[in-house]
Formats: sequence, structure tokens, C-alpha cells
Amino acid sequence: MKYLVTGGSGFVGSNYLHYVVNKYPEDQFICVDMLTYAGNFNNIVSLVDKPNFKFYKIDIRNAEAIDTLFAKERPDCVINFAAESHVDNSIKNPNLFSETNILGTMTVMNACRKHGNVRFHQISTDEVYGDLPLDRPDLKFKEDTPIRPSNPYSAAKAGADMQLMAYQRTYGLPITISRCSNNYGAYQFPEKLIPVVVSKALKNEPIPIYGKGENIRDWVHVDDHNNAIDLILHKGKIGEIYNIGGHSEKKNLEVVKTILNILKKDESLISFVDDRPGHDLRYAIDSSKIENELGWSLSHTFEDGIEETVDWYVNHQDWIEDIQSGEYRKAYEKLLKR
Ligand SMILES: NC(=O)c1ccc[n+]([C@@H]2O[C@H](COP(=O)([O-])OP(=O)(O)OC[C@H]3O[C@@H](n4cnc5c(N)ncnc54)[C@H](O)[C@@H]3O)[C@@H](O)[C@H]2O)c1
Repeated sequence: MKYLVTGGSGFVGSNYLHYVVNKYPEDQFICVDMLTYAGNFNNIVSLVDKPNFKFYKIDIRNAEAIDTLFAKERPDCVINFAAESHVDNSIKNPNLFSETNILGTMTVMNACRKHGNVRFHQISTDEVYGDLPLDRPDLKFKEDTPIRPSNPYSAAKAGADMQLMAYQRTYGLPITISRCSNNYGAYQFPEKLIPVVVSKALKNEPIPIYGKGENIRDWVHVDDHNNAIDLILHKGKIGEIYNIGGHSEKKNLEVVKTILNILKKDESLISFVDDRPGHDLRYAIDSSKIENELGWSLSHTFEDGIEETVDWYVNHQDWIEDIQSGEYRKAYEKLLKR
């Protein structure tokens, strides 16, 4: 099988590639990434010499480049991780999020239609469901919960999901969609909660938390997310949506305090800042469908996984510093000159 993996230099996609390139030496993995600020070639540079891995620097919005790539590589399956992913950026520049997350996704879907009805798996998010109240712990998102996004990021992800479902019904495109809650693990860009907290705490800098830190997220280790994607690709039913959750709801403040505790840092570093507009209160996922139908289960508890993740950032401070200095943006050009 030949898999085309878009957005494979980002956080979740690079972890996915490390997992599958090693697990399936007989399959081919073609990574397509335009290396936006969030795409870090250093995340996948160790895969470059593997015989079953190739990289193309391409923008998924570029229909001609995507068409040429499909004609050349003839993939059997697409896994679409490519997206603008930071909610704060979506509030400042909403159009870019629809251009990449909806139109970019459709460009790849159109190539799938044209080049032999290629299987398409979309990496969506639980954020398409909007949020839940803090005082109703009984409520969780199910696959048939109505879509009710609350910011331009989640609205653009929801838009792509809608087009995928329409393409399946109208053109018979063989699609699946997974909607996962918040991931944590190695290689997460230091604009998101966990790497920001670790990096600031190590420098004894104030740690900004939105509002009162009461917002609740459900946390999944990135390897458990990727294991679920692998199962969906091999055993999932075409046309289906699968929720992926971590059975691990935590208030943001609790997550920050856990990290400070692991690092033996004082809670006085916490600094509450003005809340994000439209900030979702609580996400909670019911993942019983993938558990019952595909036999998926978690292999990390939050308690073990967060310790291992904090250790990774502590031991890879050069990785964070490379991003903070902008040096990481030269990694791909350096490879070309090799
Ligand atoms: N991180 C999470 O907690 C989480 C949870 C659920 C779902 N998701 C979804 O998983 C996917 C990956 O998320 P992430 O956290 O790894 O994001 P990320 O921002 O770390 O990575 C996104 C990648 O996409 C690439 N990209 C962006 N625009 C592109 C374009 N036009 N053409 C080609 N490549 C482009 C970037 O260069 C980057 O490598 C996203 O679709 C996101 O919605 C993430």
C-alpha cells in the first residue's frame, strides 16, 4: 500500500509517521507538507533515509501540484493531517483557516476522485461539536451529536467534514473521519498549552492561563490517537465517523499544576490572563463506538503519559530553542544541500 500523509511535519502527523514508517516497512509513506510556521522538518528528518519514506514540500491548496503528485505517486490512501490548527490564530485570520482546512482538503479530495477513487481518511477534531456546560458531567459528544462549532478553526474543520460526507454520498468517495480530543506528547509546537507551560516553567517565567483555568479538556496521548487512526484505516467502515477520547477530563489549571509539580516548580508562576473570545468550556468524548466496533483501547493514562511528555520536553530543550530562534525553518533547505 502507498499512503499519502498530508501535514506530516506537524505535531500529530510526525508522530504518526514515526509510528507507521517503522511498523509497516513493506508499505510506502509519502509525506506532503508546505512547512508553515507549525511544520517543523526536524520532526521527521530521521525518517528521510528510510526506503519507505518520501517528502514533498507542497501546499495542499495548489491543485496543479497536488494533481501532478497524484499522477506521479499514485497513492492508494490519503490521511489528511494538514491544517491550520491554532484557535487563537483563527480568531485573528479566519479566512486562512477556511482556505487551508476546507478548500485545501477539497483539493486533495478532488485529486482522490480523479485518480481512481482513492480512500481518504480525515483527521478531524472533537471541537466541531462545540462545547458542553461545566456542570453537566453526564453529557459527552457522540458521533451523532450535532455539529456546533464556536470559533473559525472548528468551523473550518466542520466545513471539511461536511464536504467529505457530501463527497461520499454524491460521488461515492470512500471516506472515514476521526474526531479526537486534545492530544499531548512529543513534537507539539510551543504555542499550545503543554509545551508552553514546560518551556516557561523551566525559565521561571510567568505561565499565562486563560480566564480562571476552569475550562475542561479531555486529554489523549498522541500515540493512542495514532493507534486509533491505524485501526480505522485497517478495520474501519467506509463512510463512518469515529470519536477518539482519553477518558481523562482535566481543568486547564489542573494540567498546569500537574506539570509544575513534575518539574518541582512553584505555583506562583501561574498568571491568569483575559479569556479567549468564545472560549469553549468543556469537551468530553464518548469513544465507545471505536472501542466496541474496532477493539481500540488506550495504552497511556494521563498520569504516566504527562510525566513522559514533560521529560521529553526537558530533554529536548534544543528542539524548543531552535523553534524560538527560528533556526528550525532552515532544516529542510539544509537537507537539500546535503
Ligand atoms: N493537536 C491536537 O490536539 C489535535 C486533536 C484533534 C485533531 N487534531 C487535528 O490533527 C491535525 C494535525 O494537528 P496538529 O496539532 O499536528 O497541527 P500542527 O499545526 O502541528 O500541524 C499541521 C501541519 O500541517 C501543515 N500544513 C498547514 N497548512 C498546509 C497546507 N496548506 N499545505 C500543506 N501542509 C500544510 C503544517 O506545515 C504542519 O506541518 C489537524 O487537522 C487538527 O485539526 C489535532
